[in-house]
Amino acid sequence: MAEEVSQQNGCLENPLYDPEILYRLDPSKFKGEYSEGLSPLKPGGTLRTRPLCLDDYEKGYMELLSQLTAVGEVSKERFTERFNKMKACVDTYFITVIEDVKLGIIVGTVTLVVEQKFIHGATARARLEDLVINDAYRGRQLGKMLLDIIVVMSEVFHCYKGSLECKDHLVKLYSQYGFEKTPGQNYMQQKYFD
Ligand SMILES: CC(C)(COP(=O)(O)OP(=O)(O)OC[C@H]1O[C@@H](n2cnc3c(N)ncnc32)[C@H](O)[C@@H]1OP(=O)(O)O)[C@@H](O)C(=O)NCCC(=O)NCCS
Repeated sequence: MAEEVSQQNGCLENPLYDPEILYRLDPSKFKGEYSEGLSPLKPGGTLRTRPLCLDDYEKGYMELLSQLTAVGEVSKERFTERFNKMKACVDTYFITVIEDVKLGIIVGTVTLVVEQKFIHGATARARLEDLVINDAYRGRQLGKMLLDIIVVMSEVFHCYKGSLECKDHLVKLYSQYGFEKTPGQNYMQQKYFD
């Protein structure tokens, strides 16, 4: 399976993280029930799952993120600088995307940040961020596939826990992947700008 998917996706130019980390995930660990023949690493048709690559700026990655939140003005230069900074942080930033290779556009993305810790035996904490699927591709299980991937990847990196923030209507979706609200724990934030 790993080699098959890896070959199908070819050699990626300048990926944010080693694609083998993704393609060697154990498929038996995925929790979602997907339509016949589909899986997080084989999302079907002309769709391919892979790490974010530098050239994805030209493939509409920022436009996709704008369906999640305000992205502001980000030039290619600024994107490149940020990409390289993330890449330089070993085993920390795992941005996974789904590309529609027929159209050459990024249609889904999720970010896993593996935060290194001294506590809990100097392990790590997983933070799930920025899950978004292009609105023309929603309802095809792609969101679930990306969620599945990061939960399994968090286990690979021995994270002692994973967390995320979401609106009420998505609590049901995330609970299917093991996330739960913790009584007595509060999510607090302070915004410095939008
Ligand atoms: C949330 C989102 C990523 C889901 O992606 P998707 O590919 O359309 O979802 P899937 O097809 O994998 O469906 C997953 C499940 O979530 C449910 N779901 C999807 N979008 C939902 C929504 N807006 N409200 C409530 N439930 C939703 C589906 O009904 C499905 O449930 P089921 O398995 O019980 O049938 C997508 O709607 C999106 O990008 N939204 C805008 C950005 C956003 O809100 N991101 C989440 C930030 S926390």
